[in-house]
Amino acid sequence: MLYTMRDVSVQYRIGERRVDVLRDFSFAVEDGEFITITGPSGRGKTTVLNILAGFLPPTSGTVLWEDNDLYAQSDDQTARYRNSQIGMVHQFFNLIPELNAVQNVMAPGLIGGANRHEARRRAEAMLDRVGVLGRAEHLPSEMSGGEQQRVAIARALMNSPRVVLADEPTGNLDRVTAAEIVALMSRLHAEDGTTMILVTHDPTVAAAGTRMIQMD
Ligand SMILES: Nc1ncnc2c1ncn2[C@@H]1O[C@H](COP(=O)(O)OP(=O)(O)OP(=O)(O)O)[C@@H](O)[C@H]1O
Ligand SMILES: [Mg+2]
Repeated sequence: MLYTMRDVSVQYRIGERRVDVLRDFSFAVEDGEFITITGPSGRGKTTVLNILAGFLPPTSGTVLWEDNDLYAQSDDQTARYRNSQIGMVHQFFNLIPELNAVQNVMAPGLIGGANRHEARRRAEAMLDRVGVLGRAEHLPSEMSGGEQQRVAIARALMNSPRVVLADEPTGNLDRVTAAEIVALMSRLHAEDGTTMILVTHDPTVAAAGTRMIQMD
């Protein structure tokens, strides 16, 4: 198992009020799966991704990455996990606005210790793979939504992660562009065997995975 979540509960406290978001949620992910998560707004889908990304310690329960407790690691181990084992893709692309496409993709490589030359070569290869090498010098504001999402996917894959966590990656795209992005993720999954965990509201997108999880 790549991930094991066992009896995970999350409660937020707002003043006197307690909000139960997850209650005894258990879930396991095998290496190489393409999981899609659907469910009504507010059911905790983003919360689950944040837990898996190491950003949100659950109120109770365990979260294992391979056989290690994700929330019993040192800060250094968590930082390394985030930089090299996972890649994240968001609904609003979240590219750094001051950096052009190739610089955005290079960033995780540089943070991971690659030298500039090596990072640039790999970033260009990734942009080529996702079909936007021609936009390498464009700032995010100079690209369409679909192009920005391709760059974000290239950035997520820069350090050859084991898993890509994607939160509504097509939520801000028209249907045709959304279908292209899903086809791209399916192709990358098939070519590299990278595990994908994708949250979506769109049943067509959800059908692209190898296993669908419905959060009710
Ligand atoms: N930091 C927080 N403090 C308090 N409540 C929060 C916090 N973050 C999320 N929540 C609440 O937790 C619940 C689950 O939120 P989450 O973002 O995981 O839902 P979601 O399934 O991703 O919804 P959507 O489909 O709208 O993105 C929501 O009711 C939300 O209001
Ligand atoms: Mg959400």
